[in-house]
Amino acid sequence: MNEIHKTHLHELSLPIKSLFTGYLLAIGVGLLMAGVQILLTHGMADGKFGLSVDDIVYSYYGDRTGSKLEAKLNGSMKDNAPPEARLTLIKWARAGSPENEWETTIKPLTEQYCVGCHANMPGIVNVGEKGIILKVAATDTGASITNLTRVSHIHLFGIAFIFFFVGWIFSYAGGFSQLVKAGLIFFPFAFLILDVAAWWLTRLNPGFAWLVIIGGIGYSLASTVMIFTSLYQLWIPYRTNKG
Ligand code: HEC
Repeated sequence: MNEIHKTHLHELSLPIKSLFTGYLLAIGVGLLMAGVQILLTHGMADGKFGLSVDDIVYSYYGDRTGSKLEAKLNGSMKDNAPPEARLTLIKWARAGSPENEWETTIKPLTEQYCVGCHANMPGIVNVGEKGIILKVAATDTGASITNLTRVSHIHLFGIAFIFFFVGWIFSYAGGFSQLVKAGLIFFPFAFLILDVAAWWLTRLNPGFAWLVIIGGIGYSLASTVMIFTSLYQLWIPYRTNKG
């Protein structure tokens, strides 16, 4: 018998077992997908595949050494325009994008080199429009407060819900001392709060980016342990000497 509940996972009735199993499987796949999504969005923020501290800095603090326009023109857009054209665009961005040069210099360049893709490909902004290029030419200051507030509360509410049920199911597991169990159940919540706090700190100071990674790894690990242990013990009998 375990100390918290009268039954072990394996001794639960079949309908409850199937409920727990279905839920844990769906959450497990969901966590994997979340991981893939993070790699594809934040992971690409510095232009290279794979999540790094730089990605976190770019996402939350921004790249304050220059504009997105400049970064792209030196990065993935490099082959799309000859060096002189790129230089003109970069100089314009660095000069604070003076609007009086838009009609005379900048618009013709975007029409010649950029709008062919940017006005036609779905999913990318049209840098041939004045309002849009002014935005990408401005210094990149990272995540906006509005966006961060929105993502923070969705993240906290949504993920706390997931951890609550994962932790509750795991509380039926055997083979862990009360203390270890309590720790494993509490960790994800603590790391979740740490993670979200770290987004805000990173927005102020890029030195906090590693905290975001620690937070994310922390709650992923703790919940993975709980999910796997629970799934295993649901279907494989767990025995103790205590009986
Ligand atoms: C061959 C098609 C093509 C051409 C030509 C092209 N782009 Fe792009 N551009 C893309 C694609 C695809 C993306 C999205 C992927 C990426 O960010 O690399 C993109 C992304 C960008 C972004 C980032 C937009 C954002 O909000 O993330 C900027 C800025 C940009 N391009 C500027 C330019 C400029 C300036 C030119 C002209 C000198 C140009 N591009 C020419 C295809 C093109």
